[in-house]
Amino acid sequence: MLIAVGVSGGIGAYKAVEVVRGLQRRGHDVVAVMTANATRFVGPITFEAITRRPVITDQFEAGANADIEHIAIASTIDLLIIAPATANILGKLANGIADDFLSTLYLATRAPVLVAPAMNTQMFAHEAVRSNLDALAARGVRFVEPGEGYLACGWIGKGRLAEPDEIVAAAEDVLRPRGPLRSQRVLVTAGPTYEDVDPVRYLGNRSSGRMGFAIAGEAARRGAEVTLVAGPTSLDPPPVRELVRVRSAEQMHAAVLGRADDMHVVVMAAAVADYAPIEPSDQKVPKGGDTVTMVLKKTPDILAELGRRRIASGGGPLLVGFAAETERVVAHAAAKRESKHADLFVANDVSRADAGFGVDTNAVTIVGPDGSETLPLQSKSRVAIAILDRIEALLTAHPAKTSG
Ligand code: PMT
Repeated sequence: MLIAVGVSGGIGAYKAVEVVRGLQRRGHDVVAVMTANATRFVGPITFEAITRRPVITDQFEAGANADIEHIAIASTIDLLIIAPATANILGKLANGIADDFLSTLYLATRAPVLVAPAMNTQMFAHEAVRSNLDALAARGVRFVEPGEGYLACGWIGKGRLAEPDEIVAAAEDVLRPRGPLRSQRVLVTAGPTYEDVDPVRYLGNRSSGRMGFAIAGEAARRGAEVTLVAGPTSLDPPPVRELVRVRSAEQMHAAVLGRADDMHVVVMAAAVADYAPIEPSDQKVPKGGDTVTMVLKKTPDILAELGRRRIASGGGPLLVGFAAETERVVAHAAAKRESKHADLFVANDVSRADAGFGVDTNAVTIVGPDGSETLPLQSKSRVAIAILDRIEALLTAHPAKTSG
């Protein structure tokens, strides 16, 4: 996202540098706008160096008005932050005075506006400032409250600019999408599990993690707090709140069951091994005769256990399973949905070369409480969008009852 950070002339201007860095660390692009007074506290070169963009300091700067980006900034930014916001800039914003670039930008943009006031305690408490803040709040401007403590002017009280981390967190909150998945805790499993035979051999499967990663990434884009439990895969995971790496079905079982009670949604896209060697050997098993017999034990069925828990408790997360099938694909998926007490089951025909394991595309049928919907072959990211649309519709109709 592109964020404009407006800096007005207060002692807290130096903290705006850390606000810019914090936003960049979260993947945002930042353009800095400084009032003339702000440049007396911090040099524009500082912001130019860290944003790698020209800093806008003057509305009528010679040459700058020919620069399309300078003029277009009002319509291209996703958020305008003003930190610190002095009593002076608040007065201008509240009363529609546009006598410099920052106050003009406030009037020209339709992006959300987040303001972090900072000033002397008495000024902050003054009726004129309070009524300006009320007027701005009534227009939808959001605020990060100033902190209390020693102020640069020698007073003790409320007025110190909020800490950069708080301002960045407030910005993330403003930018978070407003759909049903916003702030919902979603756990997604992805990839295969490996069941060790001995220190050099394992039983695994062809899952690459692509389908689960696409779902986790799309859920995060919709504002969900995503926990991704990933089996061994060489792919880079999407940015999520928590990434848990596991190897075996047993480890995936512990990772999912230990977190599921706090979740609103659990999506089991992983291809979990159904059987594992009874006891992996500590030493490499030497080559023997022409054939070898291996005794396997059943692994815990994670999704079935989540389903049993919800039947016992009457609550718990919304459950989504996947069925990798080679024949009677939809019928098998519908039967698994019933037996594992899941809300949705996504059936994929893994006998097709262009769907299921390893490839970038998938062709699925989503089986839900009110019938099934077959989707055309498409990218796994498009499939993820369709699955999350169905999840959002179910969440809207029946919000998940979690214990968290
Ligand atoms: O990773 P990719 O290369 O992108 O491939 C994606 C995929 C084909 C792996 C994925 O789309 C998929 O179909 N995943 C589920 C595969 C599978 O294990 O299906 P199943 O029918 O065996 O299991 C049914 C459901 O029970 C699944 O949600 C599975 O995660 C779950 N399960 C299975 C066994 C077990 N011990 N515990 C479980 O929770």
